[in-house]
Amino acid sequence: MSLMGFLDRVADVATFDKVIEPARRAVLGALKPPAVKDLLHGTWIGHPLHPILVQVPVGSWVSAGLLDVVPRMRPAATALIGIGVAAAVPAAASGAADWSEQDTGVRRLGALHAVLNTVALGLYVGSLAARKNDRGGLGRVLSYSGLAIAGGSAAIGGHMSYAQSSGASHAATAVRALSTDWLDLGPLDDFPEGRPALRTGTGGSADVPLAVVRRGTRVDVFVGACSHLSGPLQDGTVEEVRGSQCLVCPWHGSAFDLDSGEPRRGPAANPQEKLEVRMEAGRVMARVPSRHR
Ligand code: FES
Repeated sequence: MSLMGFLDRVADVATFDKVIEPARRAVLGALKPPAVKDLLHGTWIGHPLHPILVQVPVGSWVSAGLLDVVPRMRPAATALIGIGVAAAVPAAASGAADWSEQDTGVRRLGALHAVLNTVALGLYVGSLAARKNDRGGLGRVLSYSGLAIAGGSAAIGGHMSYAQSSGASHAATAVRALSTDWLDLGPLDDFPEGRPALRTGTGGSADVPLAVVRRGTRVDVFVGACSHLSGPLQDGTVEEVRGSQCLVCPWHGSAFDLDSGEPRRGPAANPQEKLEVRMEAGRVMARVPSRHR
């Protein structure tokens, strides 16, 4: 069985759901202030924060593993292990925030990822204590064990991103299915004022839902599938969020700036795909942006 096949089977195991769900609620409760949650998601930079933060502990621990091979470099290895331990805390917090708003399979694998990372962290803390007490041999055994477990856990994190699309923009996937021609979405006067309307864009093999918002003579056209988890933005609302007029997803409340598509409120960290718009004889025409053509 391939590694992906094995991890997919793990994601189907429901045995621990009765533990995972209370843990998820606890994370949601602990991250109640929306500003804190959005900070951890990466909404403020328009990019998931977790994959950025994990570079520090992973890089520090891998480097420490290499330096530990050379006896005179071991003090530097110890310092790097300490940096990795400190950096693991915010990385874990941002991962927990993302994990709390994912679907079932991602939450199951994410729980395993978190348990393995906690074990690895514990081994590294033990390694630091051993090194401090002049038990360098034990310290290295503990840190190499931590590195092995953190490496296995990283493979699970990769599966969550690449195979389960956790953290990926679901809107970017949907927009690629659209025809690259200008799409005629109908007369401007047919669109309601200030709320999203559903239109269907022609795709290669299947049509693609679009969420169209009219404000006076201005029209903004978005891919209907929310960048977070494909929620139907055409069923959402238009609201002012943090000073911007936004299209708000009906599933988890992510808010996207109508002007730019940037997320103004999470859990989405990726922008929402917007189409180019032009008017032609009173009709709304839309086309995928050039980066997708
Ligand atoms: S699908 Fe989660 S906020 Fe849109």
